[in-house]
Amino acid sequence: MDLKSLIRDIPDFPKPGILFRDITTLLRDPEGLRFTIDSLTEKCAQFSPDYIVGMESRGFIFGAPLAYKLGAGFIPVRKRGKLPAAVHAIEYELEYGMDRLEVHQDALLPGSRVLIVDDLMATGGTASATAELVQQTGCTLVGFGFIIELRDLNGRQRLPDAPIVTLVEY
Ligand code: PRP
Ligand code: ADE
Repeated sequence: MDLKSLIRDIPDFPKPGILFRDITTLLRDPEGLRFTIDSLTEKCAQFSPDYIVGMESRGFIFGAPLAYKLGAGFIPVRKRGKLPAAVHAIEYELEYGMDRLEVHQDALLPGSRVLIVDDLMATGGTASATAELVQQTGCTLVGFGFIIELRDLNGRQRLPDAPIVTLVEY
């Protein structure tokens, strides 16, 4: 299936010069959504993760069904101030600004196998910050899964050495 044909391009969002790859048009397509989750599942099963870590908010959309399909748990990484219990936190840089990510300190049990999942890798800032959080907890990072990779931004160079699965590249 041609997933690119279901992803909409919006120029100058959220600010001038950014070409936004809009996945809402993929999500609303029943066959496209199913194909996306099934393809990600097929490619990520090899990692046998105990947990999928997904980043707010678009990482939740793909991370939770992937966890369900792989028989893994799902752990949300959230933006600042949203998680109620004690957190590990990290500041990071986005393609369009700065932000802070947090995860519950007791969510990631040391020694667990963790797969990080998000909709899109741009600069790799979000994924590398999440990887640092995961590694701080003594877990084993077994890989990354993304629907979309923006190759020109060289996000891969910022990520630690772990396998990367992507479905669509621009
Ligand atoms: C987007 C996207 C990734 C991140 C990728 O999230 O969902 O998480 O940017 O960019 P990077 O590789 O340069 O870090 P955003 O922070 O816009 O939040 P959202 O998912 O809530 O829309
Ligand atoms: N997140 C970071 N950069 C993005 C882009 N160009 N399109 C969609 N989501 C993004």
